[in-house]
Formats: sequence, structure tokens, C-alpha cells
Amino acid sequence: MGEPIYLDHNATTPLDKRVLEKMLPYFTDVYGNPSSIDHLHGHKAKQAVDEARQSIAKHLGCRKDREIIFTSGATESNNLALIGTFRRNRCNGKHIISSAIEHPAVLDTLKYLESEGADVTLIPVDQFGVVDVDALQRAVRADTILISVMYANNEIGTIQPIKEIGEFAKSKDILFHVDAAQAVGHEKVDVYDMNIDLMSFSAHKFYGPKGVGGLFVRSYSPMVRLDSISFGGGHERNLRPGTLNVPGIIGMAEALAISERLRPKEWERLRGISASITDALKETFPEVRLNGHPEKRLGHNMNFTIPGVEAKALIHVLKGELSISAGSACSTTKVEPSHVLNAIGLSDEETFQTIRLGLGRFTQDTEGIAISLIRGILKLKR
Ligand SMILES: Cc1ncc(COP(=O)(O)O)c(C=O)c1O
Repeated sequence: MGEPIYLDHNATTPLDKRVLEKMLPYFTDVYGNPSSIDHLHGHKAKQAVDEARQSIAKHLGCRKDREIIFTSGATESNNLALIGTFRRNRCNGKHIISSAIEHPAVLDTLKYLESEGADVTLIPVDQFGVVDVDALQRAVRADTILISVMYANNEIGTIQPIKEIGEFAKSKDILFHVDAAQAVGHEKVDVYDMNIDLMSFSAHKFYGPKGVGGLFVRSYSPMVRLDSISFGGGHERNLRPGTLNVPGIIGMAEALAISERLRPKEWERLRGISASITDALKETFPEVRLNGHPEKRLGHNMNFTIPGVEAKALIHVLKGELSISAGSACSTTKVEPSHVLNAIGLSDEETFQTIRLGLGRFTQDTEGIAISLIRGILKLKR
């Protein structure tokens, strides 16, 4: 039997071989430190990083290249955006608004900020996982300094009304951070058009390397200022010290360029595959429910509750054929019900009967996937 089909692209994507090709010389040939610009080796590396920054900035709708700060990924970007904004703006207020379905990289950071004196309000979502914008507007206080809402959810794929929230935040002079880890490379993202002030992204979610990402920090209307949260050098406008991951940055720029080129067709293709899989499943098991918004969702994400079938058991049964994940969050010691699924109204029991499928660029065999799923479910159905 060959390798199982990889269907966990919301967790991470494989590195596109074209990206690897582009990265390779930056491990062995162009190995200078981009901060060492007094010699040719450093200069070449800096030039490559500058070009990568320019390309990424252009694809995300930035006004200036320098609005992109390179980091190790979306977790670090979220930490820098939230902690850096809070510390810098502490004198203006301590209230932060976010949503109940954010990734732990946001929720845990907000929890930490409470220990520094932040007041955090988490806005509920509706049954599809869409943030209640009225509740968000009502939650604003005189001391609200930041709103942080994810672009698209990593479990159920729901896309938030980012532009609408951005316009509202701007009208109230409140900074707006977006965790776009699941959206960049998959959805059309334009930071200025959407009134975004800070935006986190991560290369390994769009066929780039792991361990590299970025934070967009708006430089114009308003000029956003952050406190650095780590120390040790003047890199990245003093916001993120440390020698830059040159091959990673080159890879991220190439991965984004490829993703943007392929995006419209790829989105349609993946939406088509997910519709066929959903239809096939529902035809055999009418009780299966697709979680998340029926339309406003990532083209490559599916999240199903299958009543009567334990997700963990199904994953185990399918292990040889499909690599899928459960709808519950795993810590090292225990399995917790997913806060996202709970927030859209699922009971704990239902969350344990929920699986996530993430399609990707190299996913082809729709029929094989549906057949494997149906066979697996039939084996376990009570
Ligand atoms: C919405 C969201 N935010 C943040 C992250 C963390 O990204 P990274 O792995 O780059 O730290 C992820 C990854 O799972 C994510 O899906």
C-alpha cells in the first residue's frame, strides 16, 4: 500500500518543489548575513531579502515594502502584534476585543496580556462561525485600543467580514489586527482596502517552508507603532531582532507568488472537490453536517460532524488511506473539546464526532477520498 492521501492542509502544506529550488542557493551560495552590508556576501543576501519583501508587500496590498516584518511564523507575529500594541498603547487604554474562535496563538497571548492588566472581551459567533459584528460594535469602550479578528478559521474555514470590521475600527480610531494565517495565499487579501493595521501570516500554510512568516505593520494613516517584545539587535526596524532566515524568506516570497498566480483556478478546483466529497458523504449518511459557513468559507476546508462515529476511531481506521485530523484540540496530555466547535453550538460529544479535511494543491483523487471516508464510517457506525 502507498502513502495515505494527505488531507490536513489547514495544519500545514507540503513545500512546493519550485519553492525549494528557489531556496537552495541561499543555503550554500548566497549565505551572507543580510545585516553585513559592507561586503559583497552580505550585500547579495540583503538584495535578495529586499526583493522578497517587495514581492510579498505587493501581493498583500501594502504601500511600502518596509511594512512587512519577517518573523518565525504566525504565532510569533500574533504575539508581537498583540503584546507590542498593548504595551505601546497602554497609556491610551487597556481594552482589547477579539473573537471566541481565534487560534490559541491569539487567545493564549490575550490571556497572558490579562496578567499585564489588559481587559479582554471575546465576541461570540453565530452557528456558522461568523463573528457577531453588532456585538463587537457594542463592546467598544472609551479605552478600547485594539480589535483582533482572524481572517479565516483554521478548523471550520469560516471567513469573517474583515472589511466591514476594518471600516468600523477605523471609524473609531481603534487598531485592527488580523490573524490571516489561513487566508494568505488562499484568499485575495488587500491590507489597505480592508483597513487592516496589523496582519499575521505564515509561509507553511501556502506551500512555503516552516518556521518563517511575517507581520504587516501599517505605516500610513495611521502609522502604527509597536513595542518590540524581544531584544538583541536593530533588525526589522527594531521590532524583531535576530539574523534573518534568508532561505526561508526567499521561499516564502516564491510560495506567495506561486499561490497568487494559481489562486483563482485553484480555489474553484478545490471548492469543486470539496462539494463532491460533501455530496457523496451526505448522500450515504444524511445525518452528516458540514460545519462552518456554507459559502463564506475557505475553498479547501471541510469540517464534518458524523453523529455516532468517534472522530479518533475514524482517523485510526483510515490511517492507511487518508491523513485527516479531529475537530478537537489535542494537548500533549488530554483531548479537549474544540473551543471553536463549542462556540458554534456543538456539544462536547459532537465535537468528538467531528473531523477536519484540508484539501491542497496536489489533491486529485476525489472519488477515492469519498470512498475511503464512506467505507471507514460504515465500519464504525453504531
Ligand atoms: C489561524 C492560525 N493562526 C496562527 C497559527 C500559527 O501559525 P504558525 O504555525 O506559523 O506559528 C495557525 C497555524 O495553525 C493558524 O491556523
